[in-house]
Amino acid sequence: LATVEIDISKIAAGGCLSYKWRGKPVFIKNRLPSEIEIEASTPMSALKDPVPPEAMLKRPEWLVVIGICTHLGCVPIPNSGDFPGGFYCPCHGSHYDNVGRVRKGPAPINLEVPSYEFLSDTLLKVG
Ligand code: FES
Repeated sequence: LATVEIDISKIAAGGCLSYKWRGKPVFIKNRLPSEIEIEASTPMSALKDPVPPEAMLKRPEWLVVIGICTHLGCVPIPNSGDFPGGFYCPCHGSHYDNVGRVRKGPAPINLEVPSYEFLSDTLLKVG
């Protein structure tokens, strides 16, 4: 399907669920206040692909990214790795933070953000 509508009310605080869109996994993460706070204070100089959180997110509490590692295409594991609420790719050890930004390992760039929009507070359209 070119677009999918997802009921995000089922994603608990801190949780991250994976959905399928155009044959790819899309991760939708409900960011905790503590996770939002940690990444709000990460300096750009700590980032390999420097992008502020507001450029990766449409709403601070929701992260929407393609769940494919930008190194060689494995699927990272949500809520794991060295950064709170982030993602870990077990193939070669890339770590992403809870904004989807690469922080460690061989991945060259951040996780890709698909086009999406909020249709309401509980319904998200990807694509
Ligand atoms: Fe993810 Fe290599 S494919 S670290």
